[in-house]
Order: sequence, then structure tokens, then C-alpha cells
Amino acid sequence: ARLVVLVSGSGTNLQALIDAAADQAYGAEIVAVGADRAGIAGLKRAEQAGITTFVERIPDHADRAAWDRALTAAVTAHRPDVVVTAGFMKILGPEFIAAFGGRIVNTHPALLPSFPGAHGVPDALAYGVKVTGCTVHLVDAGVDTGPIIAQGVVEVLDSDHADGGEALHERIKTVERTLLVEVVGRLAREGHRIEDRKVWIPA
Ligand code: GRF
Repeated sequence: ARLVVLVSGSGTNLQALIDAAADQAYGAEIVAVGADRAGIAGLKRAEQAGITTFVERIPDHADRAAWDRALTAAVTAHRPDVVVTAGFMKILGPEFIAAFGGRIVNTHPALLPSFPGAHGVPDALAYGVKVTGCTVHLVDAGVDTGPIIAQGVVEVLDSDHADGGEALHERIKTVERTLLVEVVGRLAREGHRIEDRKVWIPA
């Protein structure tokens, strides 16, 4: 399967996918990595692995719709079977969802439907939950509302309240990387179907 991965930051989830895809048996090839900003570590990781990169910044376009159109065109050019948003911090537009809906995989650092949005880790901490984790899900038009594919659990420690969630986020990301690699590989090798908002991957 052909994968396009979208990133906005450090790209450790991307790196986990790059490492997994180095093995042919994984069943997926990362054909391009896109970002909404230049100069980020995620893009460097892609370049180091010899993967084509592209950047579509919102401020370089007349409006959000024009950005949506440009990002959709940039991704379409690489003919992906699956698009992975791995720490991509922009909400995808309607044109993008229309083009790739049902085959966009996102990872979120909380147990959805709790704590969606850009501050999932501090929000969970502030609420006082004792367990949290990560969710790998398909992207729909909402923010972190699409059908859930898999979740991983991480315990919250009392000491997590001392650093605003940094250590907690690191523990979540350790679980997240493994889960994302596993789910994307299964999707790439087996395909999936969506039924009544639920995602099934053949065993
Ligand atoms: C991940 O926890 C992701 O779920 C969140 O941002 C983090 C990205 O980390 N939205 P990285 O860029 O893959 O290192």
C-alpha cells in the first residue's frame, strides 16, 4: 500500500512508520511526507530516509479553502491508498475529506471521545482522570470524532501533575508509536471496512 504521512512537528510517529516500512513484509511504503510548515524535524526525518517531501502553508494561500485545495492536490499527486496524520496540527478541509475520506488515519494522545482537540494531554490531566492513553482513528469532518480503530491505555501518575503533562505525553507517545505502526500495517496488508461507524480489519 502507498502511504502519505502528514506532520507538523517532531515526527517521532513518522519515524516509527519509516522504521517499520523498511521491512518489505510490513506491506506499506511511505511515498511522500507533507507538512503545514517548513523546517520541522519531521521533514528532516523524511529527507534523511530519502522520502519526497512537500510543504503547504496556510499563510501562502488566499484562504483556508485554497489551502485545502492545494493540500488535496499535493497529496493526490502521490496516489496514496492511506493517508496518515501523525501529529498534523491542522484541521483537514472538506475537499481533502471528500478525496480521502475513510482512508485517513489519525493518532490522538487521549482516549477518545474524551479530550479531543489540540490539548488532549493537559485536558485529561486537568480533569483528573487516572487512566488515559491514545486513539488511532479514521478522520471524518469533525475534530477527533471519526470511527475508532484501536486504543492504548496509559496510567496517570500523581507526579504527572508536576510538569503539566510532559512526562505523561512521553509515556503516551511510546504506546502511540507502537499502536500506530501496528494499525497502519494491518490496514495496509488487510484493508478495512466501515460499517455503522465501526472499523473492521479482517483478522
Ligand atoms: C502525538 O502525541 C500526536 O498524537 C499529537 O502530537 C504528537 C506528535 O508527536 N497530536 P510526533 O510529532 O509524532 O513526535
